[in-house]
Amino acid sequence: MSKQRWGSRLGVILAVAGSAVGLGNFLRFPGVAANNGGGAFMIPYFISFFLLGLPLMWIEWTIGRFGGGFGHSTAPGVFDTMWQKNRFVKYFGVMGIFGPVVIFSYYIYVESWLLGYSVFALIGRYADCTDLESMRAFLTGYQSLAGTEHFPAGTAYLFFIITFAINIIVLSFGISRGIERCCKWGLPLLLVIAIILVIRVLTLGTPDPARPENNVLKGLGFLWNPQWAALKKPEVWLAAAGQIFFTLSVGFGVILTYASYLRRNDDVALSGLTAAATNEMAEVVLGGSLVIPAAFAFFGAAGIQSIADQNIFDLGFLTMPLILGQMAYGQIFGFLWFFLLFIAGVTSSISLAQPAIAFMEDEFNLTRREAAVLFAVVTFLLCQPVIFFLGNGVLGEMDFWGTTVCLVVFATIEVILFGWVFGIDRAWTELHAGSDIRIPRIYRFIIKYITPLMLLTILATWIFNDWKKQLLLEGVEEANRPYILITRVGLLGLFVFLLLMVRIVWRRRPEATCPETDQ
Ligand code: PHE
Repeated sequence: MSKQRWGSRLGVILAVAGSAVGLGNFLRFPGVAANNGGGAFMIPYFISFFLLGLPLMWIEWTIGRFGGGFGHSTAPGVFDTMWQKNRFVKYFGVMGIFGPVVIFSYYIYVESWLLGYSVFALIGRYADCTDLESMRAFLTGYQSLAGTEHFPAGTAYLFFIITFAINIIVLSFGISRGIERCCKWGLPLLLVIAIILVIRVLTLGTPDPARPENNVLKGLGFLWNPQWAALKKPEVWLAAAGQIFFTLSVGFGVILTYASYLRRNDDVALSGLTAAATNEMAEVVLGGSLVIPAAFAFFGAAGIQSIADQNIFDLGFLTMPLILGQMAYGQIFGFLWFFLLFIAGVTSSISLAQPAIAFMEDEFNLTRREAAVLFAVVTFLLCQPVIFFLGNGVLGEMDFWGTTVCLVVFATIEVILFGWVFGIDRAWTELHAGSDIRIPRIYRFIIKYITPLMLLTILATWIFNDWKKQLLLEGVEEANRPYILITRVGLLGLFVFLLLMVRIVWRRRPEATCPETDQ
């Protein structure tokens, strides 16, 4: 089967930026930043961007394009071609399929709430919720976690089915006609909507003249006034690094898959930089000028932190609709807010699906449609526990394995493979093949020493501080334990299944030899 390709250079950049710009930018970022003290968070955040995020972005683009030349679009094959003498490294690559599948299975459910809320905003469904408590009751009612008086049974499920179908349809059209086309429309549209909302929020001024200290400008100051003392707190660093990986979609195997559809001499250095910069602009400029200043103007510094403390998504799901609802044309602004999030979600979730689909296409020779259908069946099943046992911590458990564990281990392996096994000289040449810019030489040093050291430190800190607590479910309610344990066993089963698949594929295959030439 001939390899799929991106249609244009702009298309691939928009697809990668579409993957990166997601719920992470507009919902997670403000929540995590507020949770970690606003201005205290931004310094570790930017340092993590330059020392972890950007290097990994370049690494994934480079090794993806390299592996794509050998007909591999997913991490097992890519790792194997990078280290042909090692028989085991391909098994580590399984994390680059497993992680995205697991994240997809809950991300898409949250995405479907946003579709639901877009409709609710437009028809004024939550208009009578005028404080945080009633907004929260509305949300838990929608999620069927508490009384369902607001909704007929199955409302959330209906929106889930629609969202799921949209994703699978886009995916079944393949790389250039499906994913690329979706991002070419979606990303510009969402940026325009975000700009409209930012203008609306920044012109809010001081909503309550009796409390002049609560205003938009002070809200921006909350995010942007640096607080150096926070540099001493390891937990702020961990949160910042985690946010950088999540928001850029790096360290999961997703960008690597997208880059495998490039040609040998397509630029990766400038394209990777552009995609990363677009995401950061969407995150700190747009994402940072919405929820935080708006919530600050209405609830003040103490309010914003206590809301974010309960649940990092609450600022976006409860506070934003409340605030927008009080304005003129509140229904339209509410709709724009949730629809913006929905589009951002779709362009990200399709990227989470692509590694698994590509694995089936490349290694089992399935057609695009067959692979999309098989993927749909498996992930549809995986979504069910997330939906029906949401209140029992299943989503959190999947998030833990998908984003924390897989991410840190996978990113560490990627960096070491690139800078040490492949060798920094060869890696540097590969990164610059066909490139339109020269990356400052300091990044040779960063990629070889600093990024791996930081990742190993994160891994070590996590092992020393948290692993026991998380693995032994300390602090988890007794009643929820069975649900979490069953989820864990299920995930383990999926992981072992994927390991076996890799083993079967490689047994059948003659040794990988030379790159495909289809320039
Ligand atoms: N970057 C996406 C966001 O910000 C989420 C994502 C993570 C997508 C990992 C792909 C891979 O929402």
